[in-house]
Amino acid sequence: MKNKYLYIQTFGCQMNVHDSEQMAALLAQVGWKITDNLKLADLILLNTCSIREKAAHKVYSELGRIGKLKEQNPELIIGVGGCLAQHLGTKFHKKVRHLDFVFGTHNIHRLPQLVAAIRKKREKITQVDFHKSLNSIGVFAPPQSGAVSAFVTIMQGCNNFCAYCVVPYLRGPEMSRPPDDIIEEIRKLADCGIREVTLLGQNVNSYGKTLGNGLNFTALIKKIGKISGIERIRFTTSHPRDLSPELINCFAEEEKLCEHIHLPVQSGSNRILALMNRGYTVEEYMKKVDHLRKLSPQISITSDIIVGFPGETQNDYQETIDMMEKIRFDSIFSFKYSERKGTAAQKLEGRIEECEKLRRLQQLQALQDGHTLEANLALEGSQQELLVEGKSKNSENDLMGRTRSWKIVNFKSESELTDKRVKVKISKAYLHSLRGKIVDD
Ligand code: 5AD
Ligand code: SF4
Repeated sequence: MKNKYLYIQTFGCQMNVHDSEQMAALLAQVGWKITDNLKLADLILLNTCSIREKAAHKVYSELGRIGKLKEQNPELIIGVGGCLAQHLGTKFHKKVRHLDFVFGTHNIHRLPQLVAAIRKKREKITQVDFHKSLNSIGVFAPPQSGAVSAFVTIMQGCNNFCAYCVVPYLRGPEMSRPPDDIIEEIRKLADCGIREVTLLGQNVNSYGKTLGNGLNFTALIKKIGKISGIERIRFTTSHPRDLSPELINCFAEEEKLCEHIHLPVQSGSNRILALMNRGYTVEEYMKKVDHLRKLSPQISITSDIIVGFPGETQNDYQETIDMMEKIRFDSIFSFKYSERKGTAAQKLEGRIEECEKLRRLQQLQALQDGHTLEANLALEGSQQELLVEGKSKNSENDLMGRTRSWKIVNFKSESELTDKRVKVKISKAYLHSLRGKIVDD
């Protein structure tokens, strides 16, 4: 039989990247081969994001480009999954005529059947219902050959309803995956050569609440720490409100848990945090940061910040700047507030002009660049353990690894060290990476 080629394009977050890996794994089981050549594809999947308007725009423009391929090849199958697909459902077919199927965030496991049905009977399909079980996250996605690091979904959905965010509407209520499933998947990954796992969820700190077996996130990390072959554990994302002293202690106690936490603060103004429905104050957030740094002095702290939330005054914004000056994050992701349909923030007054949002964003990013460089420069001369991921993107002759604190280090080596842990001395710090020299091979 002729090869069937699948092309997947992913938009948005790590959650989506991992969902795409699962889509590829499911379709590989029924004979689809992945290609990175769009023109070769018999099936094109776009795994979409709609967290901000810009992400949704990118999807539409890509669909326009792909539509031209369908004019040349009417047999081509085009499907859209992910958050925008969940949001629009059947309306997606009306907006984009050349789509064959739309599948939502709870329906990834149905992909092989959906594709088979389209091939048999060329009728448009929409599958966006929510399920009470975790069908879609139990799919084992074998890592690509040579990979040393993998994502593992430990929960899906979110119950937080931050005022600006569409995720709870598009990914459904929070559900934790049973620990035995997670452990089994990580064991399999370790057998395939994976050395580092990143545990994924919208709010990993509340892991276990829906299981009712008393096992919480810290206990899960400790169980994973016992799996042989796994040398490093990371997680993302943490909600500051639910970051417990027990989990903070875990950074000091669990040797495999890497010293990095992504802890989205969103704003430095208590008034805005309350409007955002975040459930903590700046003072509470800073206390947790202090506690983390006290127990784990090497820890790198990264964050997300939104500027231009409705009603954000110059004073509120200045409070965010002041907080950043005090905390000095290692790096941040920063965003202009983007109004999303159906969210609580949509009803708030005090819209900020786009140009003002941009001004705030640019100023904040310039400040952060200074802090990021400062944090990197502080590492010059220090020794760092790296897990080597492979060749450097910058140079064929260099290898690249990450520190336990998630920073990229490029270095020279005569030997093949991929998937090994090595010690380097940091010789030079840049804004986005570090340069190192092997200490012992
Ligand atoms: N506008 C801007 N940023 C948003 N985020 C989520 N929703 C929005 C929105 N409507 C950001 C938050 C979150 C990150 C994943 O995306 O900072 O932590
Ligand atoms: Fe969105 Fe808030 Fe849930 Fe994160 S915690 S996914 S920002 S609602």
